[in-house]
Amino acid sequence: MKRIFSGVKPSGDLTLGNYIGAISNFTKLQHDYDCLFCVVDLHAITVPQDRQELKKRVKDIAALYIACGIDPNKTHIFVQSEVPSHTQLAWILECHTYIGELNRMTQFKDKAQKLGTDGLSSGLYTYPVLMAADILLYDADLVPVGEDQKQHVEITRDIAIRFNNRYGETFVVPEHFIPKVGARIMDLQEPTKKMSKSENDKGCILLLDEPSIIRKKIMSAVTDSETQIYYDPQKKPGISNLISIYAIITNKTIDEVVEEFKDANYGTFKKALADKLIERILPIQERFKDIRNSKELDDILDAGRDYAMHLATRKINKVMKKVGLGRH
Ligand code: TYM
Repeated sequence: MKRIFSGVKPSGDLTLGNYIGAISNFTKLQHDYDCLFCVVDLHAITVPQDRQELKKRVKDIAALYIACGIDPNKTHIFVQSEVPSHTQLAWILECHTYIGELNRMTQFKDKAQKLGTDGLSSGLYTYPVLMAADILLYDADLVPVGEDQKQHVEITRDIAIRFNNRYGETFVVPEHFIPKVGARIMDLQEPTKKMSKSENDKGCILLLDEPSIIRKKIMSAVTDSETQIYYDPQKKPGISNLISIYAIITNKTIDEVVEEFKDANYGTFKKALADKLIERILPIQERFKDIRNSKELDDILDAGRDYAMHLATRKINKVMKKVGLGRH
């Protein structure tokens, strides 16, 4: 069976962007692959974190995975830092990654431009290599992610190919899976920017937001001065973003949504979107409450860790042998 690896960073609360761009696809793909879904806490500490908050979020995200429909009987859910081979492999791969390659990573470049490099950790700079280690450790064939992670999957492929050329077949070269619609959900207040955990509060819907807050955020989403609803992300980024969200949440195509609302005004459309979104998110919140503090969640994460550890240990031993590390 082919394998999937993907992860979410516990650096903030889960957003509608994470759900649409990544997690909703995990739930669709889980039937056809051997899936490892990870809470990547080592990635979160590339920027300063409060330790209590971080601990809480690790379990929040694991519980949300399940609440969103990831079936723990079919998949393996685990916490990255509980499997030490991730950092071990990351170091070995760092020694096979060029500084020039890391300099081209747009996520780091954007952060460095905004904040300057003096206050940024070197972990943030080498972060794509840790992500490569996550993926290559498990011979993942497919990596479902949002658009913003595409470049990181590409560097993973480059590193895998380079390593295989130098040491012989070691890693599966993974493909990314990026959805056609919803790969980049935009901020509701600044629809030319990605919706993000760390950005504008009003522009970002959290999966655990109260329904009244979700409604408020949708109703106050920035649109444009026209009155007609049609899809044109360049000219109408706000409305086009809302159309994409509606399409994903209702399993419709963009064209079907545009047809449905061609005679409606923006207010009517936003109200319909808020209704559908709340209808989708409420059951997730209910399941989250049931599972978040259950023993079942810890059991699932223990079993996930054991499965991941088994695969990862086999792989890291093979890699060490190929590189010539250790005595055996
Ligand atoms: P993270 O935690 O920032 O985001 C988790 C997933 O959500 C997607 N996403 C979005 N999709 C659409 N619209 C948005 N506004 C939006 N915001 C986030 C992301 O693309 C991602 O798929 N580096 C990764 C985590 C990671 C990982 C991995 C992923 C670490 N190791 C190995 C895959 C495989 C990250 O920071 O995602």
